[in-house]
Amino acid sequence: MTAPEDVAAPTPRGLPAEVARRRTFAVISHPDAGKSTLTEALALHAKMISEAGAIHGKAGRKSTVSDWMEMEKARGISVSSTALQFNYRAAGSDVDSVVNLVDTPGHSDFSEDTYRVLTAVDAAVMLIDAAKGLEPQTLKLFQVCRHRGIPVITVINKWDRPGRAPLELLDEIEERIGLTPTPLFLPVGIAGDFRGLLRRGPEGAATEYIHFTRTAGGATIAPEESLTPEQAQAREGEAWATAAEESELLAATGQDHDQEMFLAGQTSPVIYASAMLNFGVRQLLETLVALAPAPGPRLDIAGVPRQTTDPFSAVVFKVQAGMDTAHRDRLAFMRIVSGEFERGMVVTHAQTGRPFATKYALTVFGRERSTVDTAYPGDVVGLVNATALAPGHTLFVDKKVEFPPIPSFAPEHFAVLRAQSAGKYKQFRKAIDQLDSEGVVQVLRNDVRGDASPVLAAVGPMQFEVVTARMLAEFNVETTMEHLGYSLARRTDAESADELGRQRGVEVFTRTDGVILALFSDKWRLQYIEKEHPKLTLEPLVAAA
Ligand code: G4P
Repeated sequence: MTAPEDVAAPTPRGLPAEVARRRTFAVISHPDAGKSTLTEALALHAKMISEAGAIHGKAGRKSTVSDWMEMEKARGISVSSTALQFNYRAAGSDVDSVVNLVDTPGHSDFSEDTYRVLTAVDAAVMLIDAAKGLEPQTLKLFQVCRHRGIPVITVINKWDRPGRAPLELLDEIEERIGLTPTPLFLPVGIAGDFRGLLRRGPEGAATEYIHFTRTAGGATIAPEESLTPEQAQAREGEAWATAAEESELLAATGQDHDQEMFLAGQTSPVIYASAMLNFGVRQLLETLVALAPAPGPRLDIAGVPRQTTDPFSAVVFKVQAGMDTAHRDRLAFMRIVSGEFERGMVVTHAQTGRPFATKYALTVFGRERSTVDTAYPGDVVGLVNATALAPGHTLFVDKKVEFPPIPSFAPEHFAVLRAQSAGKYKQFRKAIDQLDSEGVVQVLRNDVRGDASPVLAAVGPMQFEVVTARMLAEFNVETTMEHLGYSLARRTDAESADELGRQRGVEVFTRTDGVILALFSDKWRLQYIEKEHPKLTLEPLVAAA
């Protein structure tokens, strides 16, 4: 897979025009809803690949572009988060839009990672399986979008397979998450008999019928035919009449697109699609370009908006090592907030005040890497061997700016990690520090346990597996893990720490960022201590998404 050459190439357009043509989004979904298939379908429409299916598939074919670790291949999930950039020219436009698709990990154990990714996007596509409706992971991720005020476009996928009724799925979205769905397109044909899309105009009037033709295995773009409503009625009969009627029903309940409400996160444009057959994928791209917001200002730590046209600044949202076993390097992914980025420019790392040379700047998607020479707000750039950078850090030029840190989630799983052989202690320490700074897990320490047996704290137990696997693969350290019987954590302070340390079923630690955490075996123990010692400081942490 290769990026078209003119993506993000220097242009005489100027900064405001570059910002205006950019769209940066992520797909949020439950595993198996079709995220990888959709990503591939988007790449196909953007002409980054000539055929779908070659890079997709879990059943013996080559793995998906966004998979990288052995563990991921085995489990068929995506652990890393990277970004795919492509140009897309919408119908009737004379400007290429630059679309950045930031990959999100699919498993709920990586919700902390996903949260970080969602700080880097301006919009999200909520991908739903037409037969399953809203699933737990989708719900959680949606809550993160709501919390961050990210506008959401909904795609109801797998319409080529038997599934639920179109309006029933919309009702579920409205009732369960209070988001008003406003379909831009309705399916013609029930789930399992997907013939095309009805385009909804003002007040639900059908303005166009887009008829799709299947291609062999969905490997190439599905040819489209545009018909008038009259032609559609003549051709599809009952299937068309049903879709047209549904469209009117939705208009009667006010479920029409409203740009302001969409940007405010109150409504969500809906598209029915089949990522596998490439039906509705072009419509999604057109919608992203037409409706999703371009990169905008971001508030700095003092609450002052940093405009996209201000001098260069960026936020690191993800640090990852060992993505490429041949390189063994460490990449920090930054989302550009303002100004123009030029490879080689020297920026300042806000957290240390040190200069940082950006000689090695890349775009990375899965195993594909290419050098970035110029990038603009909304773009995601990977910096190689940026050892000092951690998620939430700021880079800038000129006057100092710092963006608010990304909150860490309340861990619910705790385990002691030890190196199997004492001779490997040095590597063990190094590895822990590295995984800690990447944010793979939280690392807790106290004097009693000492440095050789730190406690790892995670939102989901699979994070522990990543640690063990990487310890061995990258640092050649075999480890043992002992799960601890704690299930919740509270933030406390030095004054309360002594008293807490004396309680049964409680242990006090300091996290690497200096936060003092008290771990409790269960919520009854916590409630008991809160009642007995009301003066102790015990604050809840940010709940996992
Ligand atoms: P994920 O990244 O969200 O986990 O999902 P992925 O794209 O891997 O898709 C999960 C399964 O759903 C795959 O089937 C994929 O082919 C199928 N799928 C995705 N989109 C559609 C669609 O629009 N229609 C239909 N009918 N199926 C779809 P699989 O059996 O797990 O893998 P494979 O053997 O097809 O590769």
